[in-house]
Amino acid sequence: MASELKADPDALKFAAGDHHMLIGGDWVHAASGKTFDTPNPATGETLATVPAGNSEDIDRAVKTARAAFETGPWSRMTPSERGRAIHKIGDLILEHGDELATLESLDNGKPYAIARAADVPLAADLFHYMSGWCTRSQGESIVPSVPYMPGAEFHAYSLKEPVGVVGQIIPWNFPLLMAAWKLGPALAAGCTVILKPAEQTPLSALRLGEIILEAGIPEGVVNVVTGFGEDAGAPLAAHDDVDKIAFTGSTEVGKLIVQAASGNLKKVSLELGGKSPNIVYADAEMETAIPGAASAIFFNHGQCCAAGSRLFAEKSVFDDVAQGVADAAKKIRVGPGLDPSTEMGPLVSHDQMSRVCRYLDEGARDGATALAGGNRHGEEGFFVEPTVLTDTTNDMSVVREEIFGPVVTVIPFDSAETIRQPANDSEFGLAAGIWTKDLSKAHRTARQLRAGTVWINCYNVFDAALPFGGYKQSGWGREMGHEAMALYTETKAVCAQL
Ligand code: NAI
Ligand code: MG
Repeated sequence: MASELKADPDALKFAAGDHHMLIGGDWVHAASGKTFDTPNPATGETLATVPAGNSEDIDRAVKTARAAFETGPWSRMTPSERGRAIHKIGDLILEHGDELATLESLDNGKPYAIARAADVPLAADLFHYMSGWCTRSQGESIVPSVPYMPGAEFHAYSLKEPVGVVGQIIPWNFPLLMAAWKLGPALAAGCTVILKPAEQTPLSALRLGEIILEAGIPEGVVNVVTGFGEDAGAPLAAHDDVDKIAFTGSTEVGKLIVQAASGNLKKVSLELGGKSPNIVYADAEMETAIPGAASAIFFNHGQCCAAGSRLFAEKSVFDDVAQGVADAAKKIRVGPGLDPSTEMGPLVSHDQMSRVCRYLDEGARDGATALAGGNRHGEEGFFVEPTVLTDTTNDMSVVREEIFGPVVTVIPFDSAETIRQPANDSEFGLAAGIWTKDLSKAHRTARQLRAGTVWINCYNVFDAALPFGGYKQSGWGREMGHEAMALYTETKAVCAQL
């Protein structure tokens, strides 16, 4: 199946190396000495072995981050100096783009070409964009008029200050990009960080740790602790000396994070699951809507929190849309991420493949029809066929639950007057898509959708300046844009009587 495999030699060397966690300026083993393997999802074979951090390592990293926050050079750097260092991280990501894209492809499974064209430049752009907020995140001047102090004059103003020591727990679907989304605004605000990458994909975060030091971010400002969720993530979320926890992952774990954070009432932001409606009206331009709907679900193998997994097609075009997306699904070339002809790689892990296949079984059992796919692909690695399901009902697990794989359900609807209820009938509210040539209908529908992002005649368009986050159980807070700075700043009111 494989044509020429492209593998950046620096990435291969890095993956094969001896891996340590970053605490302060030191690259260290886990205190317990334990390690775990991260597999190459295209083969199931071990790609790298990394330290298995636990609460002792988290504690050490938090102490280091606290010291860096309170007394280190970071706290004395001017906003402009901080901004330059953050900008440099973006430059170095671009400079090492081939290497980072290869690491991402090896560890996560995604096609190299996609990682090179999307994950890497988006991660760099995020640091470049956020670096500008260092000098622009400012308070305001306020003139109080206090009723019980007649005649008194005041000078008052607000200050934006870093929230402090921040824990950040990220998933495996966009390992480098999720690290950037988290680190960019936290650093721009002047926080110090303990980053816990997903156990499935630790490599690019470790390489990013090197890049961050090279960019001139002082030691201890960014600490990277690798390990499992329960061993390393949970103690980070619960730690009494962490001021804020930011999490991206499952809604189930998001709820555990909220509980763990309640001990010291640390600030919490969450970016959780989705089951996003993608609505194709009969008057849409089908040459763009059909491939757009296919890409809305199949991009990153459906492992996107924003994936357009509930595809609503207006009745008069239902057959064309369902068949069109099914034809597109059948044409997708599935293979290892480093094979240049690959359009869709493996899922990230054996667990995720099993989970997605379990949903496929449940869909078949409940009476759904697979117009395309419906099974595991091949016997080696963690591949699943791009799948299009019809004949579903709204109580089926394939319609209600986040599958997080290349599986879309196509559902007929009557008109713009009736789409609101089925589109919003989900516990999630992360994203939505609308395809139509009627501008008024598009914007009217956009207002009706309970979702943090609505795309019109496009899907999966992300930009560092566009706020992203969820309504309902899809999360708390918005990442990216200036709203991301609010997640990492406290506002202080200073009031002086003149
Ligand atoms: P997960 O929520 O368990 O993992 C995400 C991150 O949380 C990882 O870094 C993990 O180590 C950490 N974690 C796990 N348990 C933790 C705990 N008790 N305390 C603190 N941190 C913890 O997600 P998982 O199991 O990898 O995937 C399961 C499902 O979650 C997927 O099928 C998908 O539906 C959803 N998911 C959603 C993502 C999103 O972008 N919104 C990303 C990844 C998964
Ligand atoms: Mg892996």
